[in-house]
Amino acid sequence: MDPYLQEILNLLARWIHVIAGIMWVGNSMLFNWLDRNLEKPADTEGGRKFGRIWLLHSGAYYNVEKLLLTPEQMPRVLHWFKWQSYITWLSGFVLLVVVYYAQGGTYLVDPTRSLITAKTAVHVGPMLLLGAWLVYDVLWRSPLGKMVVPATVISLALAAGATYGVCQIMNGRAAFMHIGAMLGTLMAGNVFFHIIPSQKQLVASTKTGGATDIDLSARAKRRSIHNNYLTFPVIFLMISNHFGGLYGGPLNWVVLLVLAAGGAGVRFFMNVRFTFRPWIPCLAATSVATLAALYALTAPEGTQTTKGTEVTAGPASNGVPYKVARAIVEARCTACHSAQPTIPALAAATQGVHFDTPEQMKQYAERMKFRTVTAKTMPFANMTGMPDEERALLGRWVDEGAPTE
Ligand code: HEC
Repeated sequence: MDPYLQEILNLLARWIHVIAGIMWVGNSMLFNWLDRNLEKPADTEGGRKFGRIWLLHSGAYYNVEKLLLTPEQMPRVLHWFKWQSYITWLSGFVLLVVVYYAQGGTYLVDPTRSLITAKTAVHVGPMLLLGAWLVYDVLWRSPLGKMVVPATVISLALAAGATYGVCQIMNGRAAFMHIGAMLGTLMAGNVFFHIIPSQKQLVASTKTGGATDIDLSARAKRRSIHNNYLTFPVIFLMISNHFGGLYGGPLNWVVLLVLAAGGAGVRFFMNVRFTFRPWIPCLAATSVATLAALYALTAPEGTQTTKGTEVTAGPASNGVPYKVARAIVEARCTACHSAQPTIPALAAATQGVHFDTPEQMKQYAERMKFRTVTAKTMPFANMTGMPDEERALLGRWVDEGAPTE
């Protein structure tokens, strides 16, 4: 695809995606909050009245009541909340196509590590989204789905298995995004196939005064609980591309699971905060435990640089001279990190991090080491095929103070 067209499509889809996502999550958090803060009425009129709440916003008071209606009470105009979710999913899928699939899968794999080729990876992505939805939906529709604990355990095990698998076949950056897209697909599917149909039948039965399908509404309720817990993990995964130190590394799948568990845990304590007094210490403990686990998983043990790699930097010295580092950078980095890049489409995304001069190399030396040696998330998708020996050499050059001559 023409790189300039790609950039514009990327911007458009991303802009829409973020706005729709904010509206979807914002609505859902607002309604969750409303439900938990309703003032219960003295008389529930046979379970038809759930509560009322007063709100202050935009220069006046809002008086919101949650209740069931009789056919005569049915309002002429009723507002639904569904397009936020559909648009988030659709724009997210367009983004996957623009960023990953239309590029022939170049950014999906790491040629030196992935178990599959870029071309195959392009098919794996959409199949993962569809397959995950089918398995999840069938599981929770089946008789097993009525037994919450075993069905939850199986779902979590499947999600962990998918995470492990995807992290073996895609590079870390693409793997995290695809697990996020997978969970986001489950959330949007829940809205489309369960929550909205259940609301439609509520409206239909209100109009006719008939009974509601208890099964359908129980399923919709369960799916909306799932969505509630998936929100924070998915939001983390959507911003995970900024954290090369998290998605790189051989244990990246564990990092993902720890963060997902931490996010869902925090959501849990937020959910129970109106009825569970020690929610603040519990939430803080969950956050600290998550961050500590992350640190333990991602911080290098001891001196990471040349561990286990036999390298010779050149005759005369033990150190790695500038010209060796320079040769490596020219072979592996300046295709993107240069004022005259040979891969201009990606060079723009490096935001002016150029390695054209010795001074520039010195300026970014610590980050070069971090991204190349510690996190192994540069070169981007290892497009220039950098071997471990060169990573070790570059790391040693940085350790020795990044000499510029
Ligand atoms: C195929 C293009 C490409 C190649 C080759 C490449 N990079 Fe990058 N680099 C990027 C992109 C895109 C970004 C911005 C996105 C990101 O940070 O993941 C980036 C960002 C960076 C950053 C700045 C962000 C930060 O975390 O500090 C550093 C440092 C970096 N790369 C180092 C390197 C080194 C060292 C090499 C060579 C060993 C290299 N890169 C090779 C595309 C590339």
